[in-house]
Amino acid sequence: MSKRRVMTIFGTRPEAIKMAPLVKELEGRHGLESLCCVTAQHRQMLDSVLDIFHIRPDFDLDIMESRQTLSTITTKCLLGLEKVFEQCKPDLVLVHGDTSTTFAGALAAFYQQIEVGHVEAGLRTWDKYSPFPEEMNRSLVGRIAGLHFCPTRSNRGNLAAEGIVKGVFVTGNTVIDALKTTVAEDFRFAQEELNTLDYAGKKIILVTCHRRENYGQPMEDIMSALAYIARTHQEAELVYPVHLSPVVQECAHRHLDGIDNVHLIPPLNVEEMHNLMARCYMVMTDSGGLQEEAPALGKPVLVLRKETERPEAVEAGTVKLAGVAYDDIVALARKLLDDPAAYEKMAHAVNPYGDGQACRRIADAIEWHFGLRGQQPEPFGVG
Ligand code: UD1
Ligand code: UDP
Repeated sequence: MSKRRVMTIFGTRPEAIKMAPLVKELEGRHGLESLCCVTAQHRQMLDSVLDIFHIRPDFDLDIMESRQTLSTITTKCLLGLEKVFEQCKPDLVLVHGDTSTTFAGALAAFYQQIEVGHVEAGLRTWDKYSPFPEEMNRSLVGRIAGLHFCPTRSNRGNLAAEGIVKGVFVTGNTVIDALKTTVAEDFRFAQEELNTLDYAGKKIILVTCHRRENYGQPMEDIMSALAYIARTHQEAELVYPVHLSPVVQECAHRHLDGIDNVHLIPPLNVEEMHNLMARCYMVMTDSGGLQEEAPALGKPVLVLRKETERPEAVEAGTVKLAGVAYDDIVALARKLLDDPAAYEKMAHAVNPYGDGQACRRIADAIEWHFGLRGQQPEPFGVG
């Protein structure tokens, strides 16, 4: 029997980190032919992940522009993918999460009547403008996809609430698979500044911030709060790898340049990021991925957003929603820095998002879908 052709499509850093272990898993399955197409919605931040995981895409649309808009990303992906599908028609397309690449990838496949599998399905805030445009992207992909790989049971519940009950698998999040391969006790950073930080004596706060709905006043307030926290807590060192978006770069440097205990550095590769997270005191972020990784490493997280589609670690007590208001962010950070009991309450490792077996379950489910395997994978989170 000829192999079933599965094409993974991704474009940004987080999609790449979470799809890379799945690409590797699919490559090892004899009944499947694994092809990889990147849109390169991100360029340098994507290439860094491809390098670390030794992935050489079969197709690269190379679409990134400076200050790109949602419309340019979507149309360039649609047009590029149409050509890719003309050259080689997959039996199944896999997209990940909620970016513009994700939505355009699913839509382009739908236009050619190619089945779509959605990795990291079922996350919802139920607010179509927050996160923007991600909440709408993932909801629309949920309508298009025939296979849904949910990280958690509560994600499956969200799909059921929308009437999506067929082809749904609870697999865990592939980010935990990735995390299991990257953290090492003797890890050395490429930037000497990170090797010489006083991890035992100082309170290292790892910061990231990039979300589109935070552009403007929320981001101004977040950066002002970070500056205040740094100035008033000399025992803290803020390490902030700044996203390459010019909007974010400008705002971060304007507020934080010249403060002694703030280190604004270029984006880290994923191994460096995970190892810095494993050594830090706490995390302040609006990132989705960091909300999943830091709890697994036992690091308290303050989420710089008004809501989260990842409530599991909030319920487990490791993550707190700080919001985007200056006073709230300062108060919560101060509590974690000054109150050891409050810190200890949050600093415990929890793994609601996965057990490192997500890619195996997704590949098993795909084989089952194609009739190459008798049984569905066991769901993550039972027993
Ligand atoms: C995108 C996703 C967001 C995801 C984030 C992860 C959409 C609409 N947004 O947001 O869901 O959380 O990626 O980081 O899909 N840039 C570079 N080099 C890079 C990457 C970005 O220069 O390697 C700059 C470019 O000027 C680009 C800008 O960053 O125009 C913004 O990139 P874009 O993908 O549009 O938005 P993100 O904020 O990164
Ligand atoms: N990350 C990284 N280097 C950085 C910042 C983040 O490797 O300098 C990783 C991080 O560990 C996580 C992912 O990128 O796996 C999150 O990406 P991002 O915050 O850009 O997107 P989101 O998860 O919010 O969609």
